[in-house]
Amino acid sequence: MPEIALSQAPAHIRMGSSIGQSLTRREGVLKTTGTARFAADNHPPGMVYAVLAVSSIARGRVTSLDVAAAKAHSGVIEVMTPANTPRLAQDPDAKLHPFMFRIEVLQNDTVRYVNQPIAVVVAETLEAATEGALLLAPAYETEPARTGLDSNDSFIPQAVGAGGPAEETHGDVDAGLAAASARIEAVYETPAQYHNAMEPHSVVAAWDGNTLSLDMPTQAMAMTQGRIAGLFGIAPEDIHIRSPFLGGGFGSKALGSGPQVLGIIAARLVGRPVKLVLRREQMFGPVGHRAPTRQTMRLGTDDQGALTALSHHVKTATSTFDDFIEPAANASHALYASPAIKTSHEAVRLDTGTPLFMRAPGEAPGSAALESAIDEMALACGMDPLAFRLKNYAEVEPMSGKPFSSKALRQCYEQGAERFGWAARPLAPRQMRDDAGMLVGWGMGTAVFPALMFQGHARAVLRQDGTGVVEIGAHDMGQGAWTALAQIAADALGLDPDQTEFRSGTSDLPDAGIAGGSAHTATAGAAIHDAGGDVIAKLADLATGDQRSPLFGANNAGVIARGGRLYRRDDEARSESYTDILTRAGHAEIEGRGTGASDPAALSAYAMYAHGAVFAEVKVDPDFGQVRVTRLVGAFAAGTVVNPRMVRSQYYGGMIWGVSFALHEHAVMDKRTGRPMNPNLAEYHVPVNADVPNIEAILVEERDVHVNALGIKGVGEIGITGTAGAIANAVWHATGVRVRRFPITLDQLIGA
Ligand code: MOS
Repeated sequence: MPEIALSQAPAHIRMGSSIGQSLTRREGVLKTTGTARFAADNHPPGMVYAVLAVSSIARGRVTSLDVAAAKAHSGVIEVMTPANTPRLAQDPDAKLHPFMFRIEVLQNDTVRYVNQPIAVVVAETLEAATEGALLLAPAYETEPARTGLDSNDSFIPQAVGAGGPAEETHGDVDAGLAAASARIEAVYETPAQYHNAMEPHSVVAAWDGNTLSLDMPTQAMAMTQGRIAGLFGIAPEDIHIRSPFLGGGFGSKALGSGPQVLGIIAARLVGRPVKLVLRREQMFGPVGHRAPTRQTMRLGTDDQGALTALSHHVKTATSTFDDFIEPAANASHALYASPAIKTSHEAVRLDTGTPLFMRAPGEAPGSAALESAIDEMALACGMDPLAFRLKNYAEVEPMSGKPFSSKALRQCYEQGAERFGWAARPLAPRQMRDDAGMLVGWGMGTAVFPALMFQGHARAVLRQDGTGVVEIGAHDMGQGAWTALAQIAADALGLDPDQTEFRSGTSDLPDAGIAGGSAHTATAGAAIHDAGGDVIAKLADLATGDQRSPLFGANNAGVIARGGRLYRRDDEARSESYTDILTRAGHAEIEGRGTGASDPAALSAYAMYAHGAVFAEVKVDPDFGQVRVTRLVGAFAAGTVVNPRMVRSQYYGGMIWGVSFALHEHAVMDKRTGRPMNPNLAEYHVPVNADVPNIEAILVEERDVHVNALGIKGVGEIGITGTAGAIANAVWHATGVRVRRFPITLDQLIGA
């Protein structure tokens, strides 16, 4: 794949600066040599090991635990059960804001789902703690488990996702369907999926009086700090979190999970530092999952192939005790113009851990259904799927009527189709075979994800020696924040990256906001840009107000910061180095502060999304129904590209998640017990290298002056959204069989 030569980089890649360069990962050597220190790699002096015992039932209560047997085991120090777990300052079921999720931390004997923590064994060694947990032999009073979308009454949730309405309507869908000359109605199903980051949830907790030191992976240090402070009744600033690296988060590490809190409680109980790491199967319960969905799509078109109505209804599940609702129907808000659109959600309460944000929450399952339905509708109109999408291209956000802050989706379609060779696609299915007799199919899907921002803060310092420091408590969960934000930091200070010290990854630094919603680079980047602007303005004041400076008389807006010097904007022959300015003024260093957040005026005026188009080729064995994805081309437009190498890598990762969604991931539930039957990476399938096809990601030019000062949209999640549908559509094109239940498995295709 050709790297973009920097001298020919398109305009959305900012030039003459660090932003836009394909720098390699700053922590790459640490990770490839195994010297990057993840949370569970820490061993403070005196540390002991905690292991969870978890419930094997979905609903009821624990009636007995053989604590004596566990305590008698050599090396076991303590067994923590509801009988001796310290009470907390705050009810763990309190919900003071929508991002506060209810957690099980041994405050009572109730069981609400399978794999819920029911005891913690603390021992001198991991082996002793593990053995002690096995000796507890729990007994239960069991009530019937409610599993599956039809096992409880459904309700209309008050809010979906991070707080949007459950139903939204624009125009009259029933009238639009009645007036249509072609219609489709189809039901798509997506399964429960579990985040399964490579690094399990973990914590190393050490108390010193009422001060708490934590090594733990988190996507939101400040929010987690606040949550823990509330639970323990201590001040947030007395909690010091180190989270320099995460081995993946995917949404499940945003909030401070119940098991991590249990590790902290255990450390308090035994008076020693405690390490607690989840076993893989314990990830299937207490740390969130993507809820299953059943989605009913109803579409109608006129005789020209223009949509007359689009209805997207989602039935999904949440837990019996909390309210996360997968906002899957929201995928239909932004993509296709229609005079009538309705999106709606209903939910059932199941005996399951609470579902949670999981990579491309809403859009991932929602777009799988929408993009499949669009393909079915195009077929019903006798139209090529790309021509159909262009016919129904949304020039404004259909649901709100707002203009887009920027939208280069048409260019994504054009460049992706050209690269893939889409024009040669036969309209009918089952027209192509390879030399080995495999059925070959081509499908496409549109990718979309909101361009979000949270709120973040940063501090920037310039030193007399001409170097700079940028501080922000940002989160590198593998996406490359450590590198991309350092590039933004260097530009913000007008310095080379090697002159700019970038400090990140601890809670003592300014709050960077949540690393989620594909919003981290935009949020933290904007904060850094703002902090750099603040300190450069102070530096400029020192120079422009001093008769001894060559910059005397230029006002603040009249200087440029570059390469450690300030230049007069109107006369670049006149410049002065940072060192000279600070030395003359007698300052060892000066500092600036900055904030990154969306501009409320821009938010109310514009709809903000990243877009893309994904083209997939699959080969299907006509006898056995086995599907292989052989080619993926994605073209994405997401504003400014900070680091082309890493942005492309994010798109690859997203598209591989799309392969995973389409063909692999499926948490199989035992309907009788509510137990996940495949809680391990041998049976819960995700793509391995052999499953990953030839992938290309095209970075489509897009400039956005409304989303934030740097024009950055998110790139982390969008790759998933077009891909699952594109693969389903390619499978149809290969076989003529429309599979509407994800993942697409060979039993649904066998003999096709
Ligand atoms: Mo993500 S689900 O916003 O970490």
